[in-house]
Amino acid sequence: MKDLFGQALLDYQNGLLTGTMNAVEDLITSTNISEADVLPLSYLFRSHKDMPKLEQKALELAKGKILDVGCGAGSHSLYLQGKNLEVKAIDISKGAIVVAKQRGVKDAVIRDVLEETNSYDTIILLMNGTGIFQELVQVSKYLKHLKSLLTSQGQILIDSSDIKYMYEDEDGGFWFDANANYYGELDYFLSYKNENEVPMKWLYLDFNTLLTACTSVGLRCELIIEGEHFDYLARITNS
Ligand SMILES: C[S@@+](CC[C@H](N)C(=O)[O-])C[C@H]1O[C@@H](n2cnc3c(N)ncnc32)[C@H](O)[C@@H]1O
Repeated sequence: MKDLFGQALLDYQNGLLTGTMNAVEDLITSTNISEADVLPLSYLFRSHKDMPKLEQKALELAKGKILDVGCGAGSHSLYLQGKNLEVKAIDISKGAIVVAKQRGVKDAVIRDVLEETNSYDTIILLMNGTGIFQELVQVSKYLKHLKSLLTSQGQILIDSSDIKYMYEDEDGGFWFDANANYYGELDYFLSYKNENEVPMKWLYLDFNTLLTACTSVGLRCELIIEGEHFDYLARITNS
């Protein structure tokens, strides 16, 4: 990984600090089933009022000792810290962790979630949190690991979307191959300032598939709220 994501966050943060936002460019993302799209860097620095309702709900439900997995620029951690909650923020992106710290996240470390070992009352994975699982075959491994990090009454708050709509044609039919991989498994491409990141795998999970995966590893999964566009927030607990 070149960490172009982290580099972009660093440039944006630097632009904010020095008042030189003209040097800042947005991230360009695309997938194997969708055209190039702009991901404005400002979105990764969003305040509570600009967060989707699903995220606001997750932050409202978060309690106790919290782990923010894939914290990015640390927007959720900062809000929770502001409520005097104890938060640890982790991310595999070095640039993201530098930015999260600069923005005031007290406990932010470069770490893959699979390397985390402490126990938490709440684990949040937000902005399509299931993306971190990458592929359907890896979901059980990640869920079992997250389960091992939960206190007995602990909860995982995770959002995702059912992206079946992306395969719908004008007649209301679906064009994905039923024999191919799960339709939420995408190849994800990111570029910044005309440089391409190493392609990644990114997983969108519909709620029922997440529920089935949770049940198979002894976890309970409930739908908390649905968003406006096939997105949802789920709470996962020990069953
Ligand atoms: C879509 S971004 C979301 C960032 C942040 N949660 C937000 O809502 O603004 C996903 C983040 O997850 C991080 N990530 C991906 N795989 C990870 C892993 N295995 N462990 C920890 N972080 C990971 C990425 O580096 C990236 O910062």
